[in-house]
Amino acid sequence: MSKYLLPRLNALDPYVPGEQPQDRRYVKLNTNESPFPPSPRVLAALDAQTVGSLNLYPDPLARTLRETIAAEYGLSSENVFVGNGSDEVLGFAFMAYADETRGATIPDVSYGFYRVYAQLYRVTPTIVPLNADFSMPVEGFLAQQQLVALANPNAPTSLALGLAQLERIIAGNANSVVLIDEAYIDFGGETCLPLLAKYPNLLIVRTYSKSRSLAGGRLGYALASPEIIDDLHRVKNSFHPYSINTLTMLAGIEAMRDHAYFDTCVSAICAQREQSKQALRALGFRVLDSATNFLFAAPPNMDGKAYYEKLKARGILVRYLSQPTLLDYVRISVGSAAQMQALLDATTAILQEDTP
Ligand SMILES: Cc1ncc(COP(=O)(O)O)c(C=O)c1O
Repeated sequence: MSKYLLPRLNALDPYVPGEQPQDRRYVKLNTNESPFPPSPRVLAALDAQTVGSLNLYPDPLARTLRETIAAEYGLSSENVFVGNGSDEVLGFAFMAYADETRGATIPDVSYGFYRVYAQLYRVTPTIVPLNADFSMPVEGFLAQQQLVALANPNAPTSLALGLAQLERIIAGNANSVVLIDEAYIDFGGETCLPLLAKYPNLLIVRTYSKSRSLAGGRLGYALASPEIIDDLHRVKNSFHPYSINTLTMLAGIEAMRDHAYFDTCVSAICAQREQSKQALRALGFRVLDSATNFLFAAPPNMDGKAYYEKLKARGILVRYLSQPTLLDYVRISVGSAAQMQALLDATTAILQEDTP
């Protein structure tokens, strides 16, 4: 930390991304990336002509990309905002709707960035504890009079809330924005999309990083009423008008149009998830029923951190969680069949090692 940094920023606890170690090749099951490469149409589109156009700025309104996303969901481009990863979209939303005078309500267990953005924008968040079974207590999110942000399905619990319950939260906060982070919705759960026409306060945030295999491209989007989309543009244009680069813009258009590839990848991941869930349960793990591309799992006879460390020593990375209610668990991204077999083999060996 330099002596120049503002004291307020000195006090921040920045988001800690999942490890991306370079010391050896790991089986990476720690950041919920897709095990599959982007659609072949993405590769085909990034040709010499496109690369040759990088001397020019990209379209700051990302019109073709927004039209493509809108068409996919039966919306108009006035309902679509795009950002440099959904992290940036979340950041703009917090910047737009919460500050020291108007707070934000978030679950105690959810995507870690909500707390980071709250801190960054001087928001004292209202934290709603999850129920003991990790489900979302709907009552805790009603009548907040401030930004409400939650992930559905939630991370790292992998559980989804039903549409009727989500509607209660959205209808129960008519005077403030309800942000539903649908980063994992393509793998399960019910999308809030059907509620968009009815609720101008609903802000859905999505990402290309998981189901569309583009985590490295950094592309996320929001679906909302034109008023909310205008708000987000206002903030973006005061901060980073060209946040989507030309190559990612094109990649996003092609990935969205390749329905067959998307369906194949998502189905394979969901099938693998179910198979790995059963296999871990057979080994004595507690594993929640997942609506995502990861498993929230507690090993028998050891805590999450010990299991994480033993797996890491065997070249496999998962994510352990240091929040007090989550210490028994790890979050395991669903990888390819070969990666998941490696996880099971290593786990079997670890459990045998530990048996006296
Ligand atoms: C719930 C949730 N929201 C948002 C993100 C951020 O995704 P990205 O910035 O890659 O779009 C993640 C990443 O893991 C996530 O788990």
